Amino acid sequence: RHHVLSLADFTPEEYDTVLQTASSFREVLSRRTKKVPTLQGQVVANLFFEPSTRTRSSFELAAKRLSADTLNFAPGSSSLTKGETILDTAKTYLAMGTDMMVIRHKEAGVPRAIADEMDRLGVKVGVLNAGDGQHEHPSQGLLDLFTICSLLDANTPRLGLLQGRKIAIVGDILHSRVARSNIWSLTASGAEVHLAAPPTLLPKEFADFVTEDGLPRKLVVHWSLDPALTDADFVMTLRLQTERMTDHLLPSLREYHQQFGITRDRLRQCQPGVKVLHPGPVNRGVEISSDLMDDPEFSLISQQVTSGVAVRMALLYLMGGGKVG
Ligand code: CP
Repeated sequence: RHHVLSLADFTPEEYDTVLQTASSFREVLSRRTKKVPTLQGQVVANLFFEPSTRTRSSFELAAKRLSADTLNFAPGSSSLTKGETILDTAKTYLAMGTDMMVIRHKEAGVPRAIADEMDRLGVKVGVLNAGDGQHEHPSQGLLDLFTICSLLDANTPRLGLLQGRKIAIVGDILHSRVARSNIWSLTASGAEVHLAAPPTLLPKEFADFVTEDGLPRKLVVHWSLDPALTDADFVMTLRLQTERMTDHLLPSLREYHQQFGITRDRLRQCQPGVKVLHPGPVNRGVEISSDLMDDPEFSLISQQVTSGVAVRMALLYLMGGGKVG
């Protein structure tokens, strides 16, 4: 695969390849040196046109652990401010010898447009979508999958481990590219995926989930929390993206927490040993109670961030070529 833009067309074999490769890199990261020469001489450009803490830093660290050179772009101090276009910015990085571009943008489709332009130019530059608008965040979906599968089998994380498990995705699904990528990966795994959100934050497309690839996928939609949580093995809660909301969508934060906030009390109806995920950043006390977020008995939030480095190493490795050392 030349570009990673979406999980919609990922095959079960590709998921397993990413999971196995990430597992190898987790082992590399546990060594004293933590570094392999795999991508020596290659250039990875992080083109983040929208803010990020986790994704940008972990792609940078992943590239450095693979011995690639990294370029970090800051839109506010770039020539975008002088009117340069996004495509011309990408072509400028191409002219410096960039091999892979990691793109985040507030508009859906920008990574695809850059990938199409690279293909049109006939250059072998891989483009990775690091989050585009409300569309997708494939590396987050893959690191969430890796975190969950590693919990079920640390030595051999694989897609099939989720067959028949119940996973609840709760909150602001309307604005969540993370939810979209996770819906693709988790339904592909054979898990039973339950969405719970207020009707105003649940896009119509999911009320009638259809697939064109013939895979048996199970997606159930709820407008209240409890049916989604009942007997769930994993609960993924999402940030309320107030910055993307117009006034008519914006709920009262207290009311939202009462109806959809994940608390220790609410988890009693889940399976014993239930785990909670959140892609971050978190609105503490809104989508999840602050004490639950920090409780290692339930919360996988730190593991998700840690998994991100190994998974992003795997993606860069698989796109850039080389051998795990
Ligand atoms: N989960 C996620 O994408 O976080 P950042 O916005 O900090 O990268």
